[in-house]
Amino acid sequence: MQIKNVGVLGCGLMGSGIAQVAAQAGYDVTVLEAEQKALDKGFAGIDASLAKFVERGPEKGGITAQQKDEIRARLKGTQKKEDLAGCDIVIEAIIENIDEKKKMYAALDSIVKPDAIFATNTSSISVTELMTATRRVDRFIGLHFFNPVPLMKLVEVVRTIATDDAVMDTAVEFGKKLGKVPVRTSDKAGFIVNRLLVPYLLDAIRAYEEGVGSVPDIDNAMKLGCGYPMGPFTLLDFVGLDTTYYITHVMYDEFKERRFASPPLLKRLVLAGWYGKKTGKGFYDWKDPKNPVPVKL
Ligand code: 3HC
Repeated sequence: MQIKNVGVLGCGLMGSGIAQVAAQAGYDVTVLEAEQKALDKGFAGIDASLAKFVERGPEKGGITAQQKDEIRARLKGTQKKEDLAGCDIVIEAIIENIDEKKKMYAALDSIVKPDAIFATNTSSISVTELMTATRRVDRFIGLHFFNPVPLMKLVEVVRTIATDDAVMDTAVEFGKKLGKVPVRTSDKAGFIVNRLLVPYLLDAIRAYEEGVGSVPDIDNAMKLGCGYPMGPFTLLDFVGLDTTYYITHVMYDEFKERRFASPPLLKRLVLAGWYGKKTGKGFYDWKDPKNPVPVKL
């Protein structure tokens, strides 16, 4: 099956990034959001990211100003589900809430053409459970992208026990066309990356709680000692502490292992509403994003 038209559900950080890379790869993209305000915010993020690629220039892997305009022309925002009827693949990146996602899939199942592939960008919710909200169980997969989507090269392609082999192959080829490196994985909470990343991030919090080191010292240790681009606390603030906290619940529920359980400090930060960069405060204060200051905890 050939993919030409791409639908994206949600225009937040992940949805807008997915829409952008799909348009950059030459697809016509329709992005569905509940409110115009959310579309405007998401498209402003896309404009800022495309401007960075123009600044970089084509010789260094960026784009020209003309290409930016062409990419922008391939992107359409909508508040009407019917506008997704002709899409060949629909990628969902709405709030990480099972009921909301299921409601959305159930509504779209009777609108979008029956041979279209449905994909979810969920980082931890069971793809199999989401699949049950539709009648296209063999055409339902996970496509898990990484933040920031325009820069991160990986996409996890997740199969369920019901996924058709040809759908998996189409999704892998689609991932490559987006300029990503697809890895195949199966529907176990956290897939590959979060299965390994989440215990590491939680251990960093436990190490801090036990007085092993300060937040910036632990960050520097992993950056400079292991060559990681960001230390664990910067990455936690970047991913969002609320998102991480939610993932810990799903993973702990699936595996019942302590390494996936939330440390008390993560819960306290989430209760306080300090979600990281997006709220301006988490393990760091992000008033000046170029110079985050460790928060006294
Ligand atoms: N769009 C386009 N270009 C961008 C951009 C964007 N959104 N953000 C940054 N850039 C450009 C910058 O302009 C700069 O361009 P230049 O080299 O031409 O000057 C270049 O990218 C590098 O940016 P910075 O100097 O600001 O920052 P870094 O060198 O630190 O790179 C990073 C940024 C790639 C994000 C790097 O810090 C990194 O790899 N961090 C780790 C990210 C990570 O681990 N993500 C995964 C999170 S887990 C997840 O998403 C899964 C979920 O389920 C939890």
